[in-house]
Amino acid sequence: MSEFILNGEQVTARDDHPHLLAALRDELGITSAKDGCSPTGQCGCCTVLIGGKARVSCQTSMDKIDGGEVTTLEGFDPAEVQRMADAFAACGALQCGFCTPGIVVRTKALIDKNGADLTREQASRHLGAHLCRCTGYIKVLDAVEALAQDDIPVVVQPRGVGSRGIKYEGRELSIGTRDFIDDMNPQGCLHGALRLTDHARADITSIDASAALAVDGVRGVFTAEDIPGVKRVGIIHKDWPIMIPVGGRTSYLGDVLVVVVADTRQIARAAAELVAVKYEVHEPMVDPVRVITSTEPAVWELDGNILSTSTYTRGDADVALASSSFTVSETFQTQRIEHAFLEPESTLAVPTRVGSGAGEPGLYVYSGGQGIFFHKFFLNSTSTPAVGDRTRLQWWRVRWQGRHVEPGAHGARGMASRSAGQDHAVARRVAADAPEAPSDSDAVRRRLRCRWQTHSHQGSHDWRLRSVRIGRHEGARTGGRSRHWSVCRWQR
Ligand code: FES
Ligand code: FES
Repeated sequence: MSEFILNGEQVTARDDHPHLLAALRDELGITSAKDGCSPTGQCGCCTVLIGGKARVSCQTSMDKIDGGEVTTLEGFDPAEVQRMADAFAACGALQCGFCTPGIVVRTKALIDKNGADLTREQASRHLGAHLCRCTGYIKVLDAVEALAQDDIPVVVQPRGVGSRGIKYEGRELSIGTRDFIDDMNPQGCLHGALRLTDHARADITSIDASAALAVDGVRGVFTAEDIPGVKRVGIIHKDWPIMIPVGGRTSYLGDVLVVVVADTRQIARAAAELVAVKYEVHEPMVDPVRVITSTEPAVWELDGNILSTSTYTRGDADVALASSSFTVSETFQTQRIEHAFLEPESTLAVPTRVGSGAGEPGLYVYSGGQGIFFHKFFLNSTSTPAVGDRTRLQWWRVRWQGRHVEPGAHGARGMASRSAGQDHAVARRVAADAPEAPSDSDAVRRRLRCRWQTHSHQGSHDWRLRSVRIGRHEGARTGGRSRHWSVCRWQR
């Protein structure tokens, strides 16, 4: 066991954790330190104070911390934490907020050391230790400067569509008290670990999971054979095998062969490595230009290698070329763009009862993705019809760039239960005594219509948006604030 002082109290932690971050998050219940890239130490999300200095905890081994002193945001002076939350929220210094608690910890270390003398240039040099994929750094520097100068802008709460205000849940996100999916750990939570293929292109000839199943704490091992429904997902085309079965062929190193479920993350990961897989290895297909003309499918069981062909025409190119003094022919390639999100891909499924009375067993699913319709569709299509139906009855809380989109807000909740021609049930109730839509709501209506039509045209479900009504509540029932409501009418 390792012993150290955490937030002013002596604690002990198992020393089989790969690093301090794992001990903090998995054993000691500290979730303000986020895991964006452990153990590589590149993103800065896991920054804590060690002996008063800002350090990335995923690069701190358990033996190094033994006898040391660790302070996380949970252990800072609450009044100081509140000031920092206000400054970051008021300056708009966060979007998803995943990187922000780490930056806030570093800000404290910098201000503790330099006080009001902290310059913007100094701060920006130190912020090089933190990756932020959504906000950029200018507003973060504004917040750091405001804190150093003790000149924090007034925090303005949002007052409805069209008004300015701090970001929804901006304060909580800044200081890490707003959970991301990976921070949620309900009692009895089991953890899954994936066994990925060892070869980018190989036929799977056998999978033997007996050694993994024999590990104490392993609750189950699942392969493609255990997926009762459709075994492929994909946003535009269903071209992505969820798992590769025995007899299947891998297409890249991210293909999943086995999922191990165990009492802890560590046990699941260790057991996944024990699964014995036999392969017949082939040369990987790595050149997209050559693959276009190949008759062999690059992705297992796909019919052809061209995803789509796009043509863009403007004016009469032939006439323009014929009248040009010079022409140049070239093949142009654009760079690949990785979203580089910092939050790990995580999903939590909580067993629940749905329906009236004692109800039926179902699942309440938390996902870090943006597209609740896709999630619903994938879950329903990959499960048995019975399970899919029960799951569909639950509404989803989905995190979009760090914030929950409660699907009830604009009609998604109604996806669960509506039938053709029905209004979204929740919105209808809200709208019953609402005033008619004011004339200035046209822009809101257009935006909403556009958003939902986009969703409905992406093929994830067969509902179509027929009409949108927008209105506005004002007065006592909304606490003097103005709130828009919407009713979306859908048809199948
Ligand atoms: S999780 Fe530690 S630096 Fe990214
Ligand atoms: S706000 Fe920095 S990564 Fe999203």
